[in-house]
Amino acid sequence: MLGVNRTLPEATAFIRENLRPAPAPLLPEITLFQAHSGSGLSRLGSIPYWAYLWAGGAALARHFLQNHEVARGLRVLDLGAGSGVVGIAAAKVGAECVICADTDPFGAAASALNAEVNSVGIKVLGEDVTCEPPPEVDLIAAGDVFYAADVAARMTRWFDHCTSAGITVLVGDPGRKHLPRHRLRLLAEYPVRDFGEGAGKPASTGKVFAFAPRIRAG
Ligand SMILES: C[S@@+](CC[C@H](N)C(=O)[O-])C[C@H]1O[C@@H](n2cnc3c(N)ncnc32)[C@H](O)[C@@H]1O
Repeated sequence: MLGVNRTLPEATAFIRENLRPAPAPLLPEITLFQAHSGSGLSRLGSIPYWAYLWAGGAALARHFLQNHEVARGLRVLDLGAGSGVVGIAAAKVGAECVICADTDPFGAAASALNAEVNSVGIKVLGEDVTCEPPPEVDLIAAGDVFYAADVAARMTRWFDHCTSAGITVLVGDPGRKHLPRHRLRLLAEYPVRDFGEGAGKPASTGKVFAFAPRIRAG
């Protein structure tokens, strides 16, 4: 299958050949390579998360675009970047530097291509940073990374380490099942379009939360 073990250059070539840049749904400030009926994404064999804008990422991007001071001047990691929409929004409002990390090579490739069409500079990482110590950033912004129980547990553990190291962690999510609600403080809500929602449907609500550091007993 095309999607298994693709290299970054192969993923980049696939996206250039089969997707088209267009303004993101309800986020016209950002252009993203988007799938169309002829894209043939089913050939990839894996779920193409990176080919869509998710409600959580859309909410974080909107949060940065409306509140520049949240990311301006900071070193930002967009974790589970997919299209890179969150990191691109942070770069647009003046983040000092932005890393878009996604373990799917197509996510890394999409982030790089989308940054290019939006004329912003980012660095992409394909490694699983959640296996490593907290990174040297000021802010981690994670859009829609609580989509499955195992991924959610892994993210929660790593965000614990990161907040203990003094890093601010912001989470964007529409309120999915595996969201660790007891660890989150709601900051803002925005009307957004979620994965698979057509323009004819009412907008969803995308929420931005702060991930709270664990309170240690004693
Ligand atoms: C639902 S998509 C969200 C994409 C984008 N943030 C958005 O909101 O539009 C979740 C992404 O997280 C990525 N992901 C899952 N586990 C990861 C990990 N440990 N490190 C980096 N990315 C990861 C997946 O490959 C996928 O692209």
